[in-house]
Amino acid sequence: MRVPPFELERFQSVHEHQVEINLTESGVEPLEAGELLGPDAAAALLGQPLAYTQSNGTPELRAAVANTFPGATEEHVLVANGGAEANFVACWRLIEPGDEVVVMQPNYGQVQGLAEGFGALTRPWPLREERAVPTPRWTPDVDELRTLVTDRTKLVAICNPNNPTGARLTEAEVAAVCEVAEKHGAWVLSDEIYRGAEHDGVETPSVWGRTERAIVTGGLSKAYGLPGLRIGWAVSARGTVTDLWSRRDYTTIAPSALSDRLARHALTPARRTALLERTRRMIAGNLPIVGAWLEAHAGDLAWVPPEAGAIGFVRYGHDIGSTALADRLRQTAGVLIVPGDHFGFDGYLRIGYGGRAASLREGLARLDRVLAAVPRTAAAPAGA
Ligand SMILES: Cc1ncc(COP(=O)(O)O)c(C=O)c1O
Repeated sequence: MRVPPFELERFQSVHEHQVEINLTESGVEPLEAGELLGPDAAAALLGQPLAYTQSNGTPELRAAVANTFPGATEEHVLVANGGAEANFVACWRLIEPGDEVVVMQPNYGQVQGLAEGFGALTRPWPLREERAVPTPRWTPDVDELRTLVTDRTKLVAICNPNNPTGARLTEAEVAAVCEVAEKHGAWVLSDEIYRGAEHDGVETPSVWGRTERAIVTGGLSKAYGLPGLRIGWAVSARGTVTDLWSRRDYTTIAPSALSDRLARHALTPARRTALLERTRRMIAGNLPIVGAWLEAHAGDLAWVPPEAGAIGFVRYGHDIGSTALADRLRQTAGVLIVPGDHFGFDGYLRIGYGGRAASLREGLARLDRVLAAVPRTAAAPAGA
């Protein structure tokens, strides 16, 4: 199997721990272990045997995840090492050479790359950037989806809320995706790892429970601020979860026992609420920094305001490709930002604003200085 390079992850893997200011993170500033646990639970953690743990996740952890999906039980949940492993086993289970896979775009590149690697033909389902005020939005076109999905389609893959735009589908749109897929016997793989990080606190509608052929993936890395635990999950019908579990026997076997324990702690109802509130608070604190910066550059830079997560997709009107701009910014200013090229959208930058406010301000100021030396293109981005 030959997979295309996963440019976004490669770029972060190589550079993110070398640069001074990292604005590529899509989650919020991670918690420290002691902050998550408190002193008593931290002391108790030292007694955790460093054994293999239940390979599909402890029943308690699976039940805690199931609690966040109405009607689900622990048998509907597979725990994985990050949302990334959940996506991997789902794609591995579903995609055969020659299949057609419809993928929302722009998108986190994992499913697209794996589908290509597994020999599928991929078809983009674009979100379109509608800039019209009063409600600019990255809008899905369900009618277009109806033309893309056929009896040859194996899978429709969406990311909701979306990386990199922070857009979220409505209840009617999620229902329509499932209805279109079901009509053609296709699966829906919905990466919902940013669910819970909605700025207005209104949870994104899930595909869970809408069709037998739906798989939801998610995890603790984004909305919960716990990426270092490497805890993710897949939620689906019992038989599908059993299939996915058997695939994990070939990948990493089990989650780390420490992580499973910490994840159980994080997902007790009161702590879960507190973690999601922390995330929203951090986003609410930093979003105005980016907003003010964009206002100061109206005509040069613009975005459709994100609805969820700590990322936004910024259009720029300067005469430089996004990869060249990101490289220049890294090399000359020590700031890492994801180029739109990594999503197939040149002329954009994905800015992560979930980190420390001072770093965000400084990173944006350095970006200003780099951009100031680049000529403007004739067509400036219309403001959102
Ligand atoms: C949409 C999406 N899915 C999955 C992942 C990977 O998540 P994890 O770190 O939990 O493996 C990411 C990470 O950026 C993501 O943005």
